[in-house]
Amino acid sequence: MARSAILNVMVQAAMKAGRSLARDFGEVQNLQVSLKGPGDYVSQADRKAEEIIYTELSRARPGYSFLMEERGAVEGEDDQHRWIVDPLDGTTNFLHGLPIFSISIALERQGQLVAGVIYNPAMDELYTAERGGGAFLNDRRLRVAARSKLSDAVIGTGIPHLGRGHHGNYLVELRNVMGETAGVRRLGSAALDLAYVAAGRMDGFWEEPLSPWDVAAGILMIREAGGFVSDKQGGNNMLENGTIVAGNELIHRALLKTLKKPVTSR
Ligand code: IPD
Ligand code: CA
Ligand code: CA
Ligand code: CA
Repeated sequence: MARSAILNVMVQAAMKAGRSLARDFGEVQNLQVSLKGPGDYVSQADRKAEEIIYTELSRARPGYSFLMEERGAVEGEDDQHRWIVDPLDGTTNFLHGLPIFSISIALERQGQLVAGVIYNPAMDELYTAERGGGAFLNDRRLRVAARSKLSDAVIGTGIPHLGRGHHGNYLVELRNVMGETAGVRRLGSAALDLAYVAAGRMDGFWEEPLSPWDVAAGILMIREAGGFVSDKQGGNNMLENGTIVAGNELIHRALLKTLKKPVTSR
């Protein structure tokens, strides 16, 4: 698999930040932690990883704009290119010593996602995708799972914190998905959830509310692995409205339908 120069830059940045996260994960009890909002923690580990990624990407491509979780939006001279970065996706897991977390870096060119990297340092799993070039886990080409029936499917989700809003309908959705699938999983890193759908480890995924840095790389990953991704209305505004539904063509369609159902009585 030949990676483009730009994807190599993203991989190097993710791996370097991953080494920093791995070191901090070994000493997690010594990290300073603060709360940004309901259920939203940030630690020195998040900030250090973000700094590394910011430095590496700015050095390789001076002037590109950024949208990063901790630093926010940074307007560069080049507004045609924007990096969308989550330096540590799964902070709550990380701070509890659960090795399910990742780094997510995406590149947008003229508003279109063109490259994505998701890296899980604890498992040394590197997911990469380029528009039109396929998706890979390390060197292996990815393909979404082929299961066609929702009743055979394992579906990932994120449970919204009550304090974050948008949770009104969640219990109804969860109840319906629980009743129609083989199982529901909540792993705690949306970027990894999407990478797992691309890799065929989970058949589908839905969550709201999410931020652009949680999903940008994962959206490209799934599409390049032959999967389907939309917002909850079936449109393409995942980055704008913070909702996402994913799977292969059939599972995606079935999941969208199930999520619209009123509560079923049992
Ligand atoms: C969180 C994770 C989690 C999702 C939350 C996100 P963070 O990101 O992706 O799985 O359920 O909504 O905020 O804050 O750990 O980067
Ligand atoms: Ca966060
Ligand atoms: Ca995140
Ligand atoms: Ca984060």
